[in-house]
Amino acid sequence: MKKTLIAVCALALGGMSLSACGSERDSAEDGSITMGFAQVGAESGWRTANTTSIQESAKEAGIDLKFSDAQQKQENQIKSIRSYIQQKVDVIAFSPVVETGWDAVLQEAKRAKIPVVLTDRAVDTEDTSLYVTFIGSDFVEEGEKAGQWLVDNADTSDVDKDGAINVVELQGTTGSAPAIDRKKGFENVISSESNIKITASQTGDFTRDGGKQVMEAFLQSNPKIDVVYAHNDDMGLGALEAIKAAGKKPGTDIKIITVDAVKDGMTALAAGEINFIVECSPLLGPQLMDVAEKVVAGEEVPERIVTEETTFTPEQAKEALPDRKY
Ligand code: AHR
Repeated sequence: MKKTLIAVCALALGGMSLSACGSERDSAEDGSITMGFAQVGAESGWRTANTTSIQESAKEAGIDLKFSDAQQKQENQIKSIRSYIQQKVDVIAFSPVVETGWDAVLQEAKRAKIPVVLTDRAVDTEDTSLYVTFIGSDFVEEGEKAGQWLVDNADTSDVDKDGAINVVELQGTTGSAPAIDRKKGFENVISSESNIKITASQTGDFTRDGGKQVMEAFLQSNPKIDVVYAHNDDMGLGALEAIKAAGKKPGTDIKIITVDAVKDGMTALAAGEINFIVECSPLLGPQLMDVAEKVVAGEEVPERIVTEETTFTPEQAKEALPDRKY
């Protein structure tokens, strides 16, 4: 399905239209585009690479980028979006820190005739006319890939050979799309396996420190942990430190599965301290700029653009590392 300019303009008959339907904003007069981007924060290696990708791509495309860092707080992102509306930017893009609670501010953008592009994370709303498109990964599929690896490697994951595989889960930011969907995808796959159980699950907020602290607590209160499933590399790397500090060998005594495939994660994977990584690409900048140009020019864009991704074993990580850009 495509969202066309015509469809968008038709929806706007009640007095609302997006900039693509004929904006009066000053910045459009000289043909240049101004984008307001409200970033989640700087919580992980993935996020840093994502910010670089957006900033570099904006520069390359000649788009004037107004950038803000919400420090993982929804109220900060809402403030930034309101400020971009006041500044009459041509297009607003953001990666929502959590899924819910966006309707009011997105209605304000719509009333101001400013199109909104979601990148990386989705919002949970019934009114899909509040944004033009969503560019990013399929997080449920990422969780399923992680679960499938565990099912396929269950024999080697049961370190104590008692038949039961106890998994502890380090969840991403509570209420965020990747935390909800990666949990769901993983459970979709392992739920039919009676020997695999999630014995503890808690948020580490997508940070290395968070992953370390939660893992330390898990190690104290769970006598047998076979596998760590971390919703991102950073939390997995934090867990790895906690496992080492507890006198165990990460990747051998306790298996680790993570999501992202940033350089630090891939290095630990290549060294056998992480066992499997599901890729989540942060390089969304070029697609975002391309879509922004099209939206402002009134061209068609698909309403969902899914990022293509792969998975990595230690051997594949060794091969990929020399060319890894982030
Ligand atoms: O939304 C993408 C997730 O957010 C990444 O997997 C994680 O590292 C980041 O913080």
